[in-house]
Amino acid sequence: MRDQAEQLRERIQRIAPEKGRQTRLIAVTSGKGGVGKSNVTLNFALGLIESGQKVVVFDVDLGLANLDVLMGVSARHHLLDLIHQDISLWEIIERGPNGLEFIAGGSGFTQFLQLDEHKLNKLLAQLSLLQGYADTVLLDTGAGISKESMQFILSADEVFLVTTPEPTSITDAYAVIKMIHARNPHTQIKLIINRSSSYREGRHTADKLTMVAKQFLGMDVQTLGFVFDDPHVSQAVKQQQPFLVAYPHSQASRSIRSLVSTHLGSASRNEGEIGGLRGFITKIRNMIR
Ligand SMILES: Nc1ncnc2c1ncn2[C@@H]1O[C@H](COP(=O)(O)OP(=O)(O)OP(=O)(O)O)[C@@H](O)[C@H]1O
Ligand SMILES: [Mg+2]
Repeated sequence: MRDQAEQLRERIQRIAPEKGRQTRLIAVTSGKGGVGKSNVTLNFALGLIESGQKVVVFDVDLGLANLDVLMGVSARHHLLDLIHQDISLWEIIERGPNGLEFIAGGSGFTQFLQLDEHKLNKLLAQLSLLQGYADTVLLDTGAGISKESMQFILSADEVFLVTTPEPTSITDAYAVIKMIHARNPHTQIKLIINRSSSYREGRHTADKLTMVAKQFLGMDVQTLGFVFDDPHVSQAVKQQQPFLVAYPHSQASRSIRSLVSTHLGSASRNEGEIGGLRGFITKIRNMIR
């Protein structure tokens, strides 16, 4: 048990956000399940931390939340505890490796969208405390596009769409692009090709998807990069450690660092719009009403 003074100190530090810091909100999604979203989210978050960012990961995978398992941390609280138990945001943030902070979704997450207005406002007010606290908030959404995850996706500043080079995964990724395009063609989608066996395969997969999106939807989909297929990923999962921590020099870890540097080098296309966490909350509130 940590002593109370330490907990208090920590809480005060958390409550004092850096002035002027804009919190960038990224939703990570995929068409097909099991393509590596959670591993990419978690390790990308750790990569951002290595680059000096403060990051909070939010597990919004409905029913199948498992980020805590990937980190070997058992979450004591879930998002909905914010309203069912009268506790603050700072108490539900769990700590993972290397200073990573995360909020567990929990299996009752669908209830989020069925809350009455008073409860929803309470929840969103708590979430807005993260504005200025973190540089980046990453949302690990469920596979396939449910109504719930679509709301998160359309409210985020950018969407990382994860696919593998397998045709089934590519087809499902394209279905997601189409669905997003139908709701908001200005959504900024960035592809991550996971489990590529070579640079060429990754490039080919990304080009196929971006070309089809351009040709049939007139939509510009960007490519963030590739993550190599690497047995260290599965080994790290079995050890319940993120691969960036367990195997920092593996090919998968190197790929993630390269994604991070590409990401940090690219400004958000929607700059100037009301974005960030504040924009996210405004949009999600408007959609739910
Ligand atoms: N780059 C990779 N190299 C090798 N194996 C990988 C890689 N990425 C993911 N995997 C394998 O795929 C499995 C599933 O990954 P993960 O749980 O991250 O997928 P997911 O998309 O979050 O799944 P779900 O849709 O169920 O949430 C991992 O446990 C690992 O075995
Ligand atoms: Mg997952």
